[in-house]
Amino acid sequence: MDKFHTPVTIYEFSDVKSFADEFEIGKGDVLLTHRFLAAPYIEPLGLACSYIFYEDYETGEPSENAVDAMRNVLREAGCKRLIAIGGGSILDAAKMLSIKADATADIYAGTAPLERGLPLVLVSTTCGTGSETSNIAVIHMNSAGCKMGKSGPAFFGDASVIIPQFLENLPYDVFMFSALDALIHGIEVYLSPNAHAFSNVYSAEAVRLIVRGFQNMRLNGRDARKGSLLSFARASSYAGIGLSHNPCGAIHACAMVFGGIHHTAHGMTNAIFMHSILKRYVKAKPDGAIQDLTKIICEELGVQLDAAGAIGALNDLITGLNPPRPLGKFGMEQTAAGEYAKKVLETQQRLIANSYVDISAEEFTKVFEELF
Ligand SMILES: [Fe+2]
Repeated sequence: MDKFHTPVTIYEFSDVKSFADEFEIGKGDVLLTHRFLAAPYIEPLGLACSYIFYEDYETGEPSENAVDAMRNVLREAGCKRLIAIGGGSILDAAKMLSIKADATADIYAGTAPLERGLPLVLVSTTCGTGSETSNIAVIHMNSAGCKMGKSGPAFFGDASVIIPQFLENLPYDVFMFSALDALIHGIEVYLSPNAHAFSNVYSAEAVRLIVRGFQNMRLNGRDARKGSLLSFARASSYAGIGLSHNPCGAIHACAMVFGGIHHTAHGMTNAIFMHSILKRYVKAKPDGAIQDLTKIICEELGVQLDAAGAIGALNDLITGLNPPRPLGKFGMEQTAAGEYAKKVLETQQRLIANSYVDISAEEFTKVFEELF
């Protein structure tokens, strides 16, 4: 049996007020967000809801301790519906908070059933994570000392909301890093040996829209992105739907290890590893799904190239918009490549199992060496 399941209802609004009106946001609603989003976009609407500001509990990615502290506040607030408005960290924290459990550790230990205790609305204010349409949440578990993903149908929101107005003032780097993350979600899920025909439709369209948007930015300047914000937002959500079917692969595996050690931005880190991994995919298996990817890239860039040429052209496009930095600049030691490779294979099997082709420890070592 093969199954593709995506129960999320997706709404699109041109602005925050239309969303607030349609969802009748008011008493009993708790908005989990940032002050820098609430002040310009939400508070002027004078809604009778309560707020939890993420930065009062956590400054980086969501942690077990922070989520547990927020859970206590939610209870005291008498929350009837949780509305998360933010990037992946806020959405993932909200997913955990919406589960009927006393503590996040119970959710991971399996001692709390994966059941929703609160209606959940997910509004993404970036264009990368795809968390608004995916069934996954990633939390840093203080008790385990590492980042851990958890997935299941209970992690789908009741509503996923796209409001491109939130993307208008995203700093360029944040925009690029999140769009690169979404692009690589699309690529990795599409190339996975476990890809599904239905998830492929979403993954492929995510790749197409982002390559198109990047090409437009290359031809017409960085600000040209402002004419394609809805398209980038949709691409991120499409990629999230694909991601709900199977995880990413070797690119994310390298990025998770490197980012876990050096605390680098997730999307940027993925972009650093993308070309090195894709080159190895093309060499090992030039036929198959990578040919479909080649077709999409060539159509959007208006070129005719083989698979190696196409991923090279994609790399040129990305490098022009987001010049990559060598791994050594983030503190990696030149002699440590083998250690990083070992850690990828030891800790990222969930992702490695979804790689287009198997990559050996020696090849992973070469990846880290050539990107130093
Ligand atoms: Fe990602």
